[in-house]
Amino acid sequence: MILTAGPTGAPLSGELTPPGDKSISHRAVILASLATGQSRIEGLLDSEDVRATVNACRQLGMTLREDGDDLLLDGVGVHGLSAPLAALDMGNSGTAMRLLAGVLAAQPFCSELIGDRSLNARPMRRIVHPLALMGARIQTAESGTPPLLISGNSQLQGIHYKSPVASAQVKSCLLLAGLYAQGETWVSEPRKSRDHTEKMLPSFGVPLTDHGAVSGGSRLIATHVRVPGDISSAAFFMAAAVMLPGSSLTLNKVGLNETRDGIIRVLEAMGADLQIVNRRMYGEEAVGDILIRHKGRLQGIDIPLPWIPSLIDELPIIMALAAVSDGLTRIRGAEELRVKESDRIAVMARGLESMGVRLTEYPDGMDIEGGAIRGGRVDGAGDHRCAMSFCILGQLADSDLEVRGCGNIDTSYPGFVHDLKSAGGRVVRIKSG
Ligand code: S3P
Repeated sequence: MILTAGPTGAPLSGELTPPGDKSISHRAVILASLATGQSRIEGLLDSEDVRATVNACRQLGMTLREDGDDLLLDGVGVHGLSAPLAALDMGNSGTAMRLLAGVLAAQPFCSELIGDRSLNARPMRRIVHPLALMGARIQTAESGTPPLLISGNSQLQGIHYKSPVASAQVKSCLLLAGLYAQGETWVSEPRKSRDHTEKMLPSFGVPLTDHGAVSGGSRLIATHVRVPGDISSAAFFMAAAVMLPGSSLTLNKVGLNETRDGIIRVLEAMGADLQIVNRRMYGEEAVGDILIRHKGRLQGIDIPLPWIPSLIDELPIIMALAAVSDGLTRIRGAEELRVKESDRIAVMARGLESMGVRLTEYPDGMDIEGGAIRGGRVDGAGDHRCAMSFCILGQLADSDLEVRGCGNIDTSYPGFVHDLKSAGGRVVRIKSG
């Protein structure tokens, strides 16, 4: 899909409710599928990535129906999954593949996980290696990438895994496998990654120890999950409102989990005017409404290393923001961006350079010098977050910005074009597909 974005002279205004949190949605569907009884899920993200998880869980025996805006999921119990009759297609979703691999590694049947071109290039040894230490038998392509052929072993051993990467997908994969393993399973990481799995398991009746371990033999009991709005989707509109003169925008029901809120810290450090009101809890997840007002150009910053895991998915939009801020923004310690849905450092660097931005690319980040930007043509390279970041930046360009490779926006934010238009942005679909 190709979009033309901006420029718009208009400010962004009004209220928006971002779609449901993608990470929490995947986990809600997986845990509800493993639970005994019927779970109600409120605010589940309806996007291609989450549908991959839903479809896979259905192939494994879970059933569901809509009840107004909610979903009612009938779980099959921890030991009730049935062998799938065909390969499970994870589409573009690394989270779906890595989390479900943890569950499937412990089943008494074989399964195959496949994905699209982007997913087929993503590293899976980071889960296959620790799962093998637990006793799992998984084959990948020679390059350590999908498809995954999982032989299934119902005799897994719990482990303490010292993960070399701060990855919630690795951690969650192992915790899910740990539900079936003998003894305790826990993961320590170089920096704390998002903790939605640890927060959600107790609401399904599975307690974690103080050091975050699960014990094998646990039983999950159906529950009611309220999914907050996705801060990673809200981030595009936070950035748009702080960039566009005269803007005043309210974002409702945004998830504020402290392992995800780095974007707020960055915007505040850059000088943005942000106010959080109506703080509340959805289960163990913090939620609030965010009021954003334009306050002039932001100031570039040096992003502190410890913040990186809490804003890893927001780095493309932070790079876009840095391009229209004063001075230098320095991003380091973000080598994980190279193995996301695309090589996000390279894709953003090429796009920003073609818009006239001065930058230096590093293996683990980028230095970006703020300035004026021009329209023209950029390529989102089929990466939803890069494509949306360019669409937002296009609002400030001096002429139309054609953004290619936008098709996968639907993996996380199907309503993005609609929401950007309704808030006052300019974006036009010029070719679908
Ligand atoms: C996610 C974890 C992060 C993030 C991804 C979603 C999750 O990936 O980038 O978009 O839901 O667990 P890593 O675990 O690879 O850091």
